[in-house]
Amino acid sequence: MKVFINKNIPEAGIKLLQDKGINFTINPTENVLSREELIKFCNENDALLNVGSNNLDEDFFQQCPNLKGIALFSVGFDSVNIPSANSRKIPVGNTPDVLSRATSDVAFLLMQSVARKSFFNHKRILNNDWGSFDPLANLGQELYGKTLGIFGLGRIGFEMAKKCKAAFGMNIIYHNRSHNETAEKELDAKYVNFETLLSQSDVLSVHSNYTEENNEIFNKNAFAKMKRNAIFINTARGKFQNEKDLFDALTNDIIWGAGLDVTNPEPMKPDNPLLSLSNCCILPHIGSATYEARNAMAVCAAQNIIALFEGKKMPFCVNEEVYI
Ligand code: DGY
Repeated sequence: MKVFINKNIPEAGIKLLQDKGINFTINPTENVLSREELIKFCNENDALLNVGSNNLDEDFFQQCPNLKGIALFSVGFDSVNIPSANSRKIPVGNTPDVLSRATSDVAFLLMQSVARKSFFNHKRILNNDWGSFDPLANLGQELYGKTLGIFGLGRIGFEMAKKCKAAFGMNIIYHNRSHNETAEKELDAKYVNFETLLSQSDVLSVHSNYTEENNEIFNKNAFAKMKRNAIFINTARGKFQNEKDLFDALTNDIIWGAGLDVTNPEPMKPDNPLLSLSNCCILPHIGSATYEARNAMAVCAAQNIIALFEGKKMPFCVNEEVYI
């Protein structure tokens, strides 16, 4: 059994594979592989440790009949067609939990950055526009006692809610497929429907798993129902937002600001008009980019591969049904 790793990962994961005597090949180039190259490597190996958002769709599975398992270097698994994996009994592993703090840190960072227009103010210095003290200019807003709405209160959303409550005493409301009893008990979080989430949140932060049914759910209609002082934050997947509608909402005073770590599509082009707005802060999908989170993700991914090669259940498997 051999595994192909399409982009180098932190040493912690590589060492685990070596210690277990796993036979692996790391992408020999510095480049992101084309789909054809990825398929070629998958046909020469039994498993894929996948870094990045390669589209592992039905066609990919058809072209890789030798594949016996996939370990993702991510918590999100929206790039994999799970029914296609299931029909071939291919387990798919992810890296849950270990990046929740890092990703929610970025959501918190963006929330504060938008509230104080910090990216815009930094650009003023670069543009030789420090200016003089002006009691009326470049004012931000404080978040004490305001309402945080979480769309998708799982592990990352919980960490964001915990921070916002501790830092600013924010009230927490959330919309989810199911109730999060721990959040209700520990953070006094209140479950609300989607409409209420939109109309009551001062900060609305997206932390849900992406599915087609929620494609561009944050669109013209949704922004129109939000408060004029509202800040929209997305650190989950860019496809949750319609960016033309977001631009209109930000420039027509429909909502107050937005902070994005994910864009639709990625990568965002440097001439995207959202980048020029004073009330929008954008980062290039760095949610999990800490030494701590990336090392732990490498360990999870390696543990999934090791379990596969030892004929055991992956410890972090998103489609456990393949083991029935
Ligand atoms: C994740 O782990 O899903 C991050 O968004 C990186 O893709």
